[in-house]
Amino acid sequence: MILIKRASDLHKHIASGRKQAGNVGFVPTMGALHEGHLSLIEASQKENGLTVCSIFVNPTQFNDPKDYEKYPVTMDKDIALLEEQGVDILFYPYVEEIYPNGLKDLGHYDLGYLETILEGKYRPGHFQGVCQVVHRLLEIVQPNNLYMGQKDYQQCMVVKRLLELTGLPIELHTCPTLREPDGLAMSSRNMRLHPEERQRAVEISRTLAAIGKEVIPGDLVKLSLWAEQELSRKGFKVDYVAIASALDLRLVDNWDGKEPLVTLAAAFLNEVRLIDNMLVPLRNE
Ligand code: PAJ
Repeated sequence: MILIKRASDLHKHIASGRKQAGNVGFVPTMGALHEGHLSLIEASQKENGLTVCSIFVNPTQFNDPKDYEKYPVTMDKDIALLEEQGVDILFYPYVEEIYPNGLKDLGHYDLGYLETILEGKYRPGHFQGVCQVVHRLLEIVQPNNLYMGQKDYQQCMVVKRLLELTGLPIELHTCPTLREPDGLAMSSRNMRLHPEERQRAVEISRTLAAIGKEVIPGDLVKLSLWAEQELSRKGFKVDYVAIASALDLRLVDNWDGKEPLVTLAAAFLNEVRLIDNMLVPLRNE
């Protein structure tokens, strides 16, 4: 694995590698890697001659400075995991490489409705930060294929919109969420949970699964309120539990029984904010 810190060096390596390798696959991350991240890398390796992974804890997407300060950094372990996985190139840039003109006056992206709901509503500015960093990384790496996780359902939609807005000829692949044996979605933030919190954290996925089982055509407001109360009762500070269209994330209050649905939740256990989502299987699936 080649480790690169400078955008110009990465550019050169990829330009020469691309001739031999054909397609380039890219997996952007913020490090503190787990099997979920590695599954994206595997997907890229299956479909591309060259796989590039980036590790960059992007300051512009953290609306809460404490969350940024406490974001876990496990660089030595990450490098070992990526070596073992056979990644071709790891890009782990300094902030100045990504934002050469500083952190002010960065581009603004017209994300419309997507930025006003769920994560967009509770984390103002977050998706602008995601677009700023992903746009910059895509310009540097110029991949053919981009691999992202369904774990961040709304982020995938935002990046899809970014690709439309910028016209970059890159295919986005959304990969399934990897879970711990008890059902908790793998996340870098899980390592900040104390053992007792870690046990309780599974309630988020359990509650989303319960909505998926209970949902029937008609009014859905009661069901999402019930789910929110369940999580509060179990000690979470809930930002939202929502049932939305899987196609465009429009919140669905009254379901026709046909529209594909996704359930999504964000909730704190003490200081740690966890998110998860699940597609609702249609009855005839
Ligand atoms: P990070 O949280 O490190 O996640 C990197 C990628 O891994 C994202 O596409 C995310 O959806 C995916 N991922 C996280 N947990 C997963 C799981 N349990 N199963 C499958 N995939 C999972 O998301 C970010 O970083 C940043 O916002 C980033 C896109 C890198 C921009 O800074």
